[in-house]
Amino acid sequence: MAEPDQYAVFGNPIAHSKSPAIHALFAEQTGQAMQYDARLVPLDGFETAVRDFADAGGRGLNITVPFKQAAYQLASRRSPRAERAGAVNTFVIHSSGQYFGDNTDGIGLARDLIRNHGLSLSGKRILLLGAGGAVRGALEALLGNRPQQLSIANRTVEKALALADDFADLGNINGLGFDDLGAMPYDLIINGTSASLKGEMPPLPASAMHTDSFCYDMMYAAEPTVFMQWAAANGAAADNISDGLGMLVEQAAESFKLWRGVEPQTRPVIEAIRASLV
Ligand code: ATR
Repeated sequence: MAEPDQYAVFGNPIAHSKSPAIHALFAEQTGQAMQYDARLVPLDGFETAVRDFADAGGRGLNITVPFKQAAYQLASRRSPRAERAGAVNTFVIHSSGQYFGDNTDGIGLARDLIRNHGLSLSGKRILLLGAGGAVRGALEALLGNRPQQLSIANRTVEKALALADDFADLGNINGLGFDDLGAMPYDLIINGTSASLKGEMPPLPASAMHTDSFCYDMMYAAEPTVFMQWAAANGAAADNISDGLGMLVEQAAESFKLWRGVEPQTRPVIEAIRASLV
């Protein structure tokens, strides 16, 4: 019997990655013969690790922190959405030795919001917290759903302004500081800061929310993040609060589709991974 096709996720750290479990469930569900592993790559060894993997016949990679910009540089060709994001989270490795670089993070977020949480983004006021790589990767897909306004609030205001400038051709987007958030509340608030990782809450005024606002953290954990706790304490209904586990599974599904040409069902996989979180 032929060996299954080889895939992997490269990152540092990588030990807690859910991607191998997600792709194993996708492969089982769709009957695809593939193997997907997590690899800890030395901080100065990304390019070598990719070349070794490709030379050994590897067919595709996911790339996570801190290598998404390095993957962008190494790609032989890039999708338009990867160009916009300035980061690559997926390689399709061609037999010619070329790496096609894509970014599935933005579509993963939009699909989780729209398909899994039933939100419509069209005509809505959206607030993004943070102005790093996570937020940059989300902007094109969010703006593609035609919100009325997309605001980026960041501790370092200059970064929010620069990001808004980079995407101004795609819709109504503005950058501001947390102090500048006025009395106009937002329909959807997405936390894209790394504050949750440290158990911190960005300095968000409660006036940014109304009673039906949906509050979404791009991070996920077994327990509600600090941002999710803040949302609950400020009156958001439980159904209107979510972490980013669905985004993780949706971006994985889009990578899987690029590699295998089949679209897995995500809902049972989100449920299975949720149940496994400790
Ligand atoms: P990533 O690529 O994961 O987005 P990043 O580029 O380091 O990571 O960006 C982290 C983001 O979280 C930044 O927007 C950062 O704000 P600054 O640009 O002002 O540094 C934001 N951030 C991190 N900790 C924060 C905190 N405690 N409160 C508010 N914002 C925070």
